[in-house]
Amino acid sequence: MKTLILCGGTGSRLWPVTLSVQKQLIPIANKPILFYIIDSLVEVGIVDIGILSNQKEDTFNEALRFYEKREKIKYTYIDQDKPIGLANAVVSAKEFIDNEKFIMILGDNMYKFSLKKFLDKFNSENVNCSILLKEVENPSQFGVADVLNGKIVDLVEKPKNPPSNLAITGIYAFDSSIFKACENIKSSWRGEYEITDAIKWLLDNSYNVTYDILEGDWKDLGTPEDILKENMNRLIGIKENVVGEIISSDISGKIILEENSKIINSIIRGPVSIGDGVMIENSYIGPYTSLGNNVSISNCQIENSIILDESNISDIDSIIDSSIVEKGSVIKKSTQLRKVSSFLLAKNSLVILE
Ligand code: DAU
Repeated sequence: MKTLILCGGTGSRLWPVTLSVQKQLIPIANKPILFYIIDSLVEVGIVDIGILSNQKEDTFNEALRFYEKREKIKYTYIDQDKPIGLANAVVSAKEFIDNEKFIMILGDNMYKFSLKKFLDKFNSENVNCSILLKEVENPSQFGVADVLNGKIVDLVEKPKNPPSNLAITGIYAFDSSIFKACENIKSSWRGEYEITDAIKWLLDNSYNVTYDILEGDWKDLGTPEDILKENMNRLIGIKENVVGEIISSDISGKIILEENSKIINSIIRGPVSIGDGVMIENSYIGPYTSLGNNVSISNCQIENSIILDESNISDIDSIIDSSIVEKGSVIKKSTQLRKVSSFLLAKNSLVILE
């Protein structure tokens, strides 16, 4: 069975981080969001994976070719001209799907559950479309299903007055009837071709649309706060693995320390994940922190943060907390005679000084 993972969009709520890293490739506990999704597919034997996006094809190719070797997946990149809606994304992937039954998953959501039950049910019954729903407190932010006697009776995208609190979680199973539905809908009030409207079209035209309730965790990672919280959750579950070198340092809690990394004269309080080629000197790295590859930290205190590859942070007096530091960033103390702060920031940057 093929799976289409949607990785388009502009990621504007996560600027400037997403100006260089596509949202779906942001690392959570040093592993891209997308790889968590792929792992849950591989777990149920799905290896034929299409990644759809409207930008940064090279970045996806680089990341996925690497994963292809490790996990034996079959990867196809699919181009969407413009991110004008999930139904348009489905149409863009028509050639890849080739009239087969398929699964579609949103590449910026994190799921912690097994897909097996949902897929077994979809494959064993004469169903045109099945969706996974979950009760939420804030249904207006999602697509919402109204259910009566075990059957879906209505579907609305981001309703002001939600008919229920059952949100559409972004995991869909379709047969080829979805293409007809996607071609028969108009764009919504937000200017997008909504997959929710396409599924409603199936419902209104007597196709068989079923649902399951997602038993497990699901999170839509839309904001920096969501990303940091998920980083915290995933770090809690890491398995201790120290390959790098520890010299004159105080380590407690679970840590991952990868190859070619060194901790010198520092305090590390796990859970902490430290990538390849990292140098930490005279510093404190506190719980829920992920440091990417080739990061360098000296004379600093960092907690509950994600520092992306190649960044360099040195000689900072105040504690760096709840921060996401974009690839290749430099944070250092001013060496000028005048006590000044200077910035070189990208779109939507956020700086909070002590
Ligand atoms: O998170 C679940 C919700 O996801 C559902 O409840 C909604 O029914 C569904 O429409 C969707 O709503 P969002 O507004 O959150 O979708 P978003 O624009 O964030 O896009 C979801 C993923 O799909 C994201 O990885 C970007 C990608 N995408 C998005 C669009 C609009 C594409 O690949 N192409 C697109 O055209």
